[in-house]
Amino acid sequence: MSAISLDHVSKHWGSMRAVDDVSLTAEEGALLVLLGPSGCGKSTTLRLIAGLEQPDSGAISIGGKDVTNLTSAQRKISMVFQSYALFPHLSVAENIVFGLRVRRVPRAERDERLKRVADIVGLSHLLERKPSQLSGGQRQRVALGRAIISEARVCLMDEPLSNLDAKLRHEMRTEIRSLQQRLGMTMVYVTHDQTEAMTMADRVVLMRDGRIEQNGTPEELYNRPATAFTARFIGTPPMNLIASGEQLIGIRPEHVRVVSHDGHPARVKAVEHLGADSIILCELDGQPVSVRQEGFSKSQPGDGIRLAWDAGFEHRFEKTSERRIEFAAGETRKVEAV
Ligand SMILES: Nc1ncnc2c1ncn2[C@@H]1O[C@H](COP(=O)(O)OP(=O)(O)OP(=O)(O)O)[C@@H](O)[C@H]1O
Ligand SMILES: [Mg+2]
Repeated sequence: MSAISLDHVSKHWGSMRAVDDVSLTAEEGALLVLLGPSGCGKSTTLRLIAGLEQPDSGAISIGGKDVTNLTSAQRKISMVFQSYALFPHLSVAENIVFGLRVRRVPRAERDERLKRVADIVGLSHLLERKPSQLSGGQRQRVALGRAIISEARVCLMDEPLSNLDAKLRHEMRTEIRSLQQRLGMTMVYVTHDQTEAMTMADRVVLMRDGRIEQNGTPEELYNRPATAFTARFIGTPPMNLIASGEQLIGIRPEHVRVVSHDGHPARVKAVEHLGADSIILCELDGQPVSVRQEGFSKSQPGDGIRLAWDAGFEHRFEKTSERRIEFAAGETRKVEAV
């Protein structure tokens, strides 16, 4: 039993509502990502779950048991902090096995687990070094190793990959995900990187100013964003939002086509070649629109082009509230001129 639930949890610093009436559940064995821009309350929420902060109101339970008033140690969790606190006088190996030593895990088992974990985080050749002799990314992997080795049922991670290069980040997120699934850990994982959220999560909780903006599967957030904020936050480049009367029309860059006739006239402002595809940044009626095209685009800044998309790919939001407008099944959408 290791599901984590927050029930109307709030934490204020003076008048600052860092976490404001947050309710959520991480199912047992699932990976829940807390996603959102800097300062939205992700770390504070994680620290509340860890017992490093006390909520002003609300309740937190782990495995069906109310832990709101338990100390961090009593909650039986492992954690990777955003600022990975390592023991400076201990070697990499000693840092990683520290928790096992405290729990008096026998030497042979400790050594075996150390070997396996050091391999996963790619530190096998650096085990004798001290933290001061490591790069930022290597230190981060020591912190990661220390959390992984404990094999706790509940693991909390706060931006554990923020200091790694792109290739290592990609490898490590796959490793963390498969480890979490193999061990059946319940994990709450904090990141501001929507790609990490989309690729790792069973469930994503998108936060904004201390509140939950949307809670859903990666697919739900991508395909049915509840607000224009979610639409802008998920996807690279983000969804295009084109103002039209009282509405915002949302269309993903991959759903916009360059056509030879009809369509909406637009002007190319810039082209980004990513290799497998290109992003054409255009202006349509004075509004920015990005288009994803396969391969190397031949478009040049200044070109006049025509853009079209299927009405079925459109999302609509109310301009003032930025809330999604739902269409009843079978209802034909009136496709207005943009
Ligand atoms: N100890 C504290 N005292 C006062 N304000 C705090 C404290 N800790 C956090 N805050 C404020 O609470 C808000 C939420 O902070 P938090 O660290 O949870 O954000 P975050 O989403 O983790 O951001 P980041 O992505 O930058 O790490 C911020 O405005 C922050 O300044
Ligand atoms: Mg943070």
